[in-house]
Amino acid sequence: AEGHSPSVILTPLYLLLWTRSFGIDYNCDCFVKDGRPFRYISGSIHYSRVPRYYWKDRLLKMKMAGLDAIQTYVPWNYHEPQVDMYDFSGDKDLEYFLQLANDTGLLVILRAGPYICAEWDMGGLPAWLLEKKSIVLRSSDSDYLAAVEKWMGVLLPKMRPHLYQNGGPIIMVQVENEYGSYFACDYDYLRSLLKLFRQYLGDEVVLFTTDGASRFHLKCGALQGLYATVDFAPGGNVTAAFLAQRGSEPTGPLVNSEFYTGWLDHWGHRHSVVPAQTIAKTLNEILACGANVNLYMFIGGTNFAYWNGANMPYMPQPTSYDYDAPLSEAGDLTEKYFALREVIGMVSVPRTYLEWVFETSLVGTVVEALDRLSPAGPVKSTYPLTFVQLKQYFGFVLYRTTLPKNCTEPTQLSSPLNGVHDRAYVSVDGVPQGVLERDKSLMINITGKAGTNLDILVENMGRVNFGRYNNDFKGLVSNLTLDQDILVEWEIYPLDIDGAVNHDINSHLYRPKRSVGNPLSYEAPTFYTGRLSIPGGIPDLPQDTYVKFPGWTKGQIWINGFNLGRYWPARGPQLTLYVPRNILVSSVPNNITVLELERSPCSTQACEIEFVDKPNINATTHQFTASFLPSLKILSKLISTRTYVKFRLFQLDHSL
Ligand SMILES: *[C@@H]1O[C@H](CO)[C@@H](O)[C@H](O)[C@H]1NC(C)=O
Ligand SMILES: *[C@@H]1O[C@H](CO)[C@@H](O)[C@H](O)[C@H]1NC(C)=O
Ligand SMILES: *[C@@H]1O[C@H](CO)[C@@H](O)[C@H](O)[C@H]1NC(C)=O
Ligand SMILES: *[C@@H]1O[C@H](CO)[C@@H](O)[C@H](O)[C@H]1NC(C)=O
Ligand SMILES: *[C@@H]1O[C@H](CO)[C@@H](O)[C@H](O)[C@H]1NC(C)=O
Ligand SMILES: *[C@@H]1O[C@H](CO)[C@@H](O)[C@H](O)[C@H]1NC(C)=O
Ligand SMILES: *[C@@H]1O[C@H](CO)[C@@H](O)[C@H](O)[C@H]1NC(C)=O
Repeated sequence: AEGHSPSVILTPLYLLLWTRSFGIDYNCDCFVKDGRPFRYISGSIHYSRVPRYYWKDRLLKMKMAGLDAIQTYVPWNYHEPQVDMYDFSGDKDLEYFLQLANDTGLLVILRAGPYICAEWDMGGLPAWLLEKKSIVLRSSDSDYLAAVEKWMGVLLPKMRPHLYQNGGPIIMVQVENEYGSYFACDYDYLRSLLKLFRQYLGDEVVLFTTDGASRFHLKCGALQGLYATVDFAPGGNVTAAFLAQRGSEPTGPLVNSEFYTGWLDHWGHRHSVVPAQTIAKTLNEILACGANVNLYMFIGGTNFAYWNGANMPYMPQPTSYDYDAPLSEAGDLTEKYFALREVIGMVSVPRTYLEWVFETSLVGTVVEALDRLSPAGPVKSTYPLTFVQLKQYFGFVLYRTTLPKNCTEPTQLSSPLNGVHDRAYVSVDGVPQGVLERDKSLMINITGKAGTNLDILVENMGRVNFGRYNNDFKGLVSNLTLDQDILVEWEIYPLDIDGAVNHDINSHLYRPKRSVGNPLSYEAPTFYTGRLSIPGGIPDLPQDTYVKFPGWTKGQIWINGFNLGRYWPARGPQLTLYVPRNILVSSVPNNITVLELERSPCSTQACEIEFVDKPNINATTHQFTASFLPSLKILSKLISTRTYVKFRLFQLDHSL
């Protein structure tokens, strides 16, 4: 009705001339949006860690929490997996994500890289950069810069129409990430980036940097022309932290670009938890300073497939990137969410537990499936080659040679230079021998006859994403020895496991010739498959669920060809993997493929995986019994709007 009033019709026209500007006002120590002072409270969500299917849901929940903006990283290696091969489709459709954010009424703070850290493989840098072995990443190294320029020439023009002043949601763009924590301290590099970003994004957009809140970090991280912001955790001295920012920016808005709502995990280490009260208290202090803040993470999400990174000394991060954030990995509102915002009324729906039993079968070992997994056959080389030399950047490679002598007695197979990156599953003539692991297990004993195949399946467990060890080569990066002798004459099989899984591996694999009831404590890496039928006609099925691996050891799982990620209950703390419902179907059977690398429960107990209603990312090897937590129960009562379904996989064909 108001629309009929002439003054209301005229006002928007008048305002249009003044809208859509964003900048910094050094007089009021604030941002200005559309000519008015503006302060943001933002939250981090990485589109690469949430299926596109759920983007809208997560953004809405962030909007409902009262956030003004979201912050996201752009992982270069996600969009340019091979040189000059760009992918912005499906789950990688960044522009669609930006459009959804805008439609939801959220502004966007874009962290465009090229380096992002982010607990992401190699900090977002593509592994193919390492094809020049001596490359100095994150510096003025001419090959590195040339690749960056080419990539930014693709990415930034796509971003330009989404800048705030051009009608989109992006108010600020971050250049590099915590550069002050990196050893190179190359100002020319930052200057090149500044020039590049200005060239493609124009002069108007606010470009900024983020560094640890200390003079030390800002020294090499800040650069004139890029607005310097800081990051710091709850529980510390907020005044002191912002004083560090003032060292670089005497005036202008105060900004904490990463205020940690939780923390990251590593396999084999305790799950990180930060109490909601600690966060709420420091958040209050930050806001009381009139500062801007981004909550890192607001939703952590999942390291699907092979995307997790690692820290040094080598510690890979698990598949879950839950981060103990206000929205759980699966998008549930947690107590922390409510502590940070007023309680949002949610309808509680009882959960349904259903069980289905269906047949599945063991389809064969990696070695038995070699023709299928490596159609082009092996690369021959006297000494081992790295993944990068093979132009295979992720997953698994099989290194094969023959035993040069009879190893009747246990004989030492070792990696004297700690060159197994990162884990190797060793077998002789199909008989498993043991596991070599970077930094942890550099030597095992093997036995076997001269001339038989020594097979070493090497897993890339994620590239280091932080610090000076980004040049993280994978595979056998140094020679292996048998006793004192260097092993030579390798046949190296690049393995396209994801491709094979997508082309229905089951029907092409071989029947294993192995004997029944292998008494060894480990087995050769083996594929298992199963078909899970979800009946149609039941409302709200399928739903989100979590998959659990009782009795399984370590491996990778695919559902309908979607690479869900790594599981490793034997090391913990993560026991369940998040299964977003968009990868499940109810019309036809769901195809499930499991690659167990060490030991399945199939010869001793039930050969099954379970789909359960609650996550458990908070166990360790010694705490399996303390896996279900009282707080989770409270949570589910408060917030559940979804129905979980429990499924079971049975392997019936034990005779294999
Ligand atoms: C983004 O949202 C604003 C309203 O908040 C709208 O004016 C603008 O047209 C939208 N931009 C796009 C590209 O949809
Ligand atoms: C916090 O830091 C400020 C500035 O360095 C200092 O004056 C103040 O005493 C500190 N507060 C506490 C509680 O340590
Ligand atoms: C290995 O042992 C077998 C007997 O078991 C023998 O025939 C063969 O010559 C030996 N090979 C080498 C290389 O020593
Ligand atoms: C390997 O075998 C030798 C000799 O049998 C033994 O002394 C040594 O402890 C074994 N090493 C490992 C790692 O099993
Ligand atoms: C393996 O050893 C050979 C001979 O010592 C050496 O030339 C080669 O560089 C080594 N290869 C690796 C990957 O370490
Ligand atoms: C499962 O694999 C079969 C072929 O073996 C295929 O016909 C079916 O469509 C697949 N199901 C799904 C959900 O992709
Ligand atoms: C994780 O487990 C530890 C010890 O078992 C417990 O103190 C902590 O509260 C748990 N965290 C969550 C988020 O449940």
